Amino acid sequence: MSAHGDPIPMMSRPCGPLRGEARVPGDKSISHRSLILGALCVGETRIKGLLEGQDVLDTAKAMRAFGAEVTDHGSGQWSVQGVGVGGFAEPDQVIDCGNSGTGVRLIMGAMATSPIIATFTGDASLNGRPMGRVTDPLALFGARAVGRQGGRLPMTLVGAADPVPVRYATPVPSAQVKSAVLLAGLNAPGQTVVIEREATRDHTERMLAGFGAQVTVEETDGGRVITLTGQPELQPQDIVVPRDPSSAAFPVCAALIVEGSDVLVPNIGLNPTRAGLFTTLREMGADLTYENEREEGGEPVADLRARFSPDLKGIEVPAGRAASMIDEYPVLSVVAAFAEGVTEMPGVKELRVKESDRIDAMAKGLRAAGVTVDEGEDWWSVAGLGHGRMPGGVTVESRLDHRIAMAFMVLGMATRKPMSVDDGSPIATSFPIFEPLMTGLGADIVRVTT
Ligand code: S3P
Repeated sequence: MSAHGDPIPMMSRPCGPLRGEARVPGDKSISHRSLILGALCVGETRIKGLLEGQDVLDTAKAMRAFGAEVTDHGSGQWSVQGVGVGGFAEPDQVIDCGNSGTGVRLIMGAMATSPIIATFTGDASLNGRPMGRVTDPLALFGARAVGRQGGRLPMTLVGAADPVPVRYATPVPSAQVKSAVLLAGLNAPGQTVVIEREATRDHTERMLAGFGAQVTVEETDGGRVITLTGQPELQPQDIVVPRDPSSAAFPVCAALIVEGSDVLVPNIGLNPTRAGLFTTLREMGADLTYENEREEGGEPVADLRARFSPDLKGIEVPAGRAASMIDEYPVLSVVAAFAEGVTEMPGVKELRVKESDRIDAMAKGLRAAGVTVDEGEDWWSVAGLGHGRMPGGVTVESRLDHRIAMAFMVLGMATRKPMSVDDGSPIATSFPIFEPLMTGLGADIVRVTT
């Protein structure tokens, strides 16, 4: 079943070399945060390069429901007229976050310390995902949540009328949980502290500071300690959203496995909390280089050049790197299938609670395509077949998960027979131009009419 309409069955056929420039869309994490933080300022935040994927559009709609004025000026240029910290109005409709865990969890945090009530829902994938990981810490501020069994959506959140600041050690490595707590802390008096044992993507901390909040980050033996001083007056910003490294992963990985390929992916943020995949691919022997390395908006940025890499080797991906590449394991497992030897991926329990159980979804599809995959609760491994030996020729389920659909489309570019997915429509949540961008490079992806 599709997220926002009918399913779109898609097929990817083995193709010739991929060549050219892949201009991937804006970063999804930064796009959500730009809209939410813009809504929490008084004045106008202007955003260039916003990802216009369904996940982010759902967050824009939600911000309007909480009282912000969000305007689409065309060509990725947006503005948000915010209502200020503590200024959210009570929505008069259910907030539908579609497929987006980031959207719903960050928005819950942003409203949890205002005296308003909101009800949240999503698609079948989102309504199956755990929300207790955010509602537990939000309860410490004084918010109350009532949802379905297992802390699932639909769920109503009653914001705290008299919030207190919170000190919270995140039990799971999750930027969404960390961000929900920090956003809630904005409207609590005093200092809210989040401690994370493993560093997760740090966009919320960086952007809060950029919007004028007082945020400090301390690296200690017990982990990263982030301290936010509550009730700041956030200052509207002009934001240029960098291109998304998680979307860049698809043309990069495709180029590595398709013979003769040479693809340039310009302007990709290489924030260390996001760039784990590229380090891993280089360790596997990928011909992946960083060109024109520079700093933009305080973040390292480079143009990535990926070329066909016939001599990839399986490696053990360090568990400590998992958070910095958590969304990239599906497409990494595709590259691993073309390597010589086994790629071990430990410390990845979080993959089981993404848009789908990503270990299960990839393992089933890869096995059907002729690859040996082993798995446990928090690890999996892929036994590579080397280049040119993968049978393919099957249809797999995408399970309302954009990254599963795109990973199998990449796989089909280098299998002997085409790979199909039952539904490619979720791709529009994060990478709406995936098909034209990939076919423009030389991929042979078609929509299948039944
Ligand atoms: C995100 C955090 C990650 C990631 C998601 C985006 C974010 O989720 O998987 O796609 O923008 O904060 P977790 O926080 O659940 O790891």
